[in-house]
This record gives sequence, structure tokens and C-alpha cells, in this order.
Amino acid sequence: MLQDKDRIFTNLYGYQSWHLDAARARGAWDNTKALLDLGPDTIIDRIKASGLRGRGGAGFPTGMKWSFMPKNPTPERPSFLVINADESEPGSCKDREIIRHDPHLLIEGALVAGFAMRARAAYIYIRGEYIREAETLFAAVAEAYAAGLLGKNACGSGYDFDVFVHRGAGAYICGEETAMIESLEGKKGQPRLKPPFPAGAGLYGCPTTVNNVESIAVAPTILRRGPEWFASFGAENNKGTKLFQISGHVNKPCVVEEAMSIPFRELIEKHCGGIRGGWDNLLAVIPGGSSVPLVPAAQIMDCPMDFDGLRALGSGLGTAAVIVMDKSTDIVRAISRLSYFYKHESCGQCTPCREGTGWMWRVMERLRTGDADISEIDTLQQVTKQVEGHTICALGDAAAWPIQGLIRHFRPEIERRITERKSGGIETMQEAAE
Ligand SMILES: Cc1cc2nc3c(=O)[nH]c(=O)nc-3n(C[C@H](O)[C@H](O)[C@H](O)COP(=O)(O)O)c2cc1C
Ligand code: SF4
Repeated sequence: MLQDKDRIFTNLYGYQSWHLDAARARGAWDNTKALLDLGPDTIIDRIKASGLRGRGGAGFPTGMKWSFMPKNPTPERPSFLVINADESEPGSCKDREIIRHDPHLLIEGALVAGFAMRARAAYIYIRGEYIREAETLFAAVAEAYAAGLLGKNACGSGYDFDVFVHRGAGAYICGEETAMIESLEGKKGQPRLKPPFPAGAGLYGCPTTVNNVESIAVAPTILRRGPEWFASFGAENNKGTKLFQISGHVNKPCVVEEAMSIPFRELIEKHCGGIRGGWDNLLAVIPGGSSVPLVPAAQIMDCPMDFDGLRALGSGLGTAAVIVMDKSTDIVRAISRLSYFYKHESCGQCTPCREGTGWMWRVMERLRTGDADISEIDTLQQVTKQVEGHTICALGDAAAWPIQGLIRHFRPEIERRITERKSGGIETMQEAAE
């Protein structure tokens, strides 16, 4: 288990104040100038050496991403850092804890990361529903300006750097990096075709890097404690500490910082008081937020909770939002509800996603009640394959994967419902509940 001395987020639960004085007492903003004095290239090299991979879902190496930014931006075409605090993926709830209880970790990270990529400013795009979190963030940024940590000659480094907080209006798609850029520009939040990638042409057509809140908030601590320290946690290629968010049928749902690659069973036993009703009562787990395929109980027990371990099971770490479902779950209904979410959040630009998400949801609803033909399971599977990989952004994949996971692991349950419905047998769980 990760020891307290190795925790980056030491005020995750808000036992102490989030204000600047308290954050400083915990070590934030401690001679930040010395970090900047390392120079952009050294900072990027150290972040690369730490093995940090993006915490927003895709796991792209953070240092490498920063290195794509131009080395000589001009005043006419400055570079920007955009920090993704949209956090709308069902199950994900870590960035909000950072923002409401330790916002200075993020703001200091914004300066350090922005400096490393030679950016003029950072825009923190925060989910519209995060009202209290946004209030805290606005206030914390104001504190940093008043203390000379941001703005002209930030931290006495000679570097000018601004941080702007921008509130979204509550659309999941605005979490996709190019939709976020469009939204920041005041347009409808719809993803852009790539290329060009944001590092070439992003916000206002200028070089831009979009990073998740957690990716940015850990950067100053990595630099202070050294990349080797961060890389001493987790398996090869899956380094560092990580915020896990465990929800659903555990005895004590929580957000907790742990070492990457901790086995699933240990994570749940140590931090969540076990599975509701005992381990034999576990049905399945969605390990990385709603968009990754579910994993049945038997397969996930000893799985290392990291990018590679979960990929080997046909799923993914995503944002490490672990949704635990016990045997009381109507698994078809649960996945159908996610299909509804993706249908609702599709921005409608591309046909496979706009039409496919609605089509998949409608079939999922009939599978839920059993009012379908067995052959429709294969048809649905084929349609998910026609959506996956054929859209502008990954929302199409996110809509397809949960259904694929359901069919892969719970086909007998879907077939049972259809057969029993046809034979005039059982009522569906929902009817039973009504
Ligand atoms: C539909 C969709 C929604 C997304 N929502 C979020 C989000 O809420 N927060 C986030 O950090 N990344 C989200 N992403 C991923 C971002 O596009 C981007 O990859 C990420 O912010 C990069 O940060 P990282 O490199 O630090 O992981 C989303 C992607 C898609 C396709
Ligand atoms: S995949 Fe869906 S959400 Fe993404 S751009 Fe296409 S229509 Fe919009």
C-alpha cells in the first residue's frame, strides 16, 4: 500500500484548508522559481524520465506531448496550455477533489508545465456543473496572482504567465480536446478533424497542448522529489501514483491515491472495505470510466490496475474510475443506460455516431426487456464495429466498447432474456420492480 509520505495529494479529503497559506505549508509553491530555473528542456526531460502518462484517459506520455510544442513561439503566435477539468465521464470524480481541496497543486502545475512548453498562458476549462469547485478555483487563482506567483514575472522568475479559468456549459463532448478548444473560442463544442493536431494549430490557431488536471497537478511534485521517485511506483511502462475513484457496490466507495499497478483485489480490500456481500457477490467491473468494456469478476481479481494490465483483459485503465457491480445488478440495463448517455452526448457531426448511438441504444433497450431476436445480438455487435474507429472523435468508440464488453462476457444472459420472454416466461427486472 502506498505510504502517506509518498502521497502527492495530501489534502485530498479536505481535512485542511485549500487556501494558499495551508497549501504552502504542505509544500506547494515552495521555491517554484528553482523549478523554472531548470529550464524548459530539463523539465520536459525529467517528466519523460518519470514515466508519467496522461491521466485523462488515453495514457499518452506527458513529457513527450510537451516536447511537441514549438521551441520558439512568437508574440504574434503564442503557445497555450489548456487544462481539461471537464470530467464528465460517468464514474470519474478525481479532478474535482484536486480542485476543491488542493487547487494550488494544479495552479502551480499550470505554471511549471506552461513554462516547460513555452506557453504564454493556461486556460483551465472546468465542467459547468462544478459550481463550488469553480468558485474555489477562481479564488485560488486570485490568491496566486496577489502573491506574485502568477502574472508578470511569475514567482520572480522573469517569466510572464497567466492562468484563466473558463466554465463550460455541461456537455460531455467538450471534454474531447478539440471540442474544448472550439468551446473556449466561443463556438459550439464540436470536435475538429485531426490533423492538424493542437500542437500545430490549436486554440485560436496557435500551438496548444491539452492535458488533464491530474497530469498537470502532479508535475511540480515529480520535479521536486525527482523522476526516479515517481518511477519507483508501478510496473514498467505504467509508472507513478494514481488517483483511483471507486464507486458502486463496495462497502466504502472512495477516491484514493495509490501506486499504479496495485492488484484489483488489494485496492478494494484496503480502501473500500471489500465488496458488498463478499467477494463471491462480485459480478463485473468497469475499471476505467463508463467508456471502457466491463470485465467479469473472475478475470479482474488479480489484475494489476494499470494501462497494460487492463488492456490485456480487453478493457482499459481510462481515468481509473472503477465502477463495481455486484450480483444484484441488471447488467444489460446498466450497459443500456450507458448507451443512452452516449446517444444523448453525441454532438451529431458524424453519421455513424449520430445515427449509430441512437440505434444501438434502442436495440439495447429491447435486449434489456428480451423483446428481440437472438440474431440481433450479432447484428448489434456488427454495428458497434461499424461505429468504432469510423468517427471524428473517440465518442463513437466510447459508445461501442461497453456494448462489445457486454456481448463478449454476458451473451448467455442476453439470450436467456430473449428465450424466456419468447416463451412468455419471466417478467423483466424492471417490470418486477414496478
Ligand atoms: C468524448 C471524450 C470526452 C473526454 N473527456 C475528457 C475529460 O472530461 N477530461 C479529460 O481530461 N480528458 C477527456 N478526454 C480526453 C481528452 O481528449 C484528452 O485526450 C486529454 O485531456 C489529454 O490529457 P492527458 O494527456 O493529460 O491525459 C475526452 C475524450 C473524448 C473523446
Ligand atoms: S464521434 Fe460523435 S461526438 Fe465525436 S465528432 Fe462524431 S458525432 Fe460528434
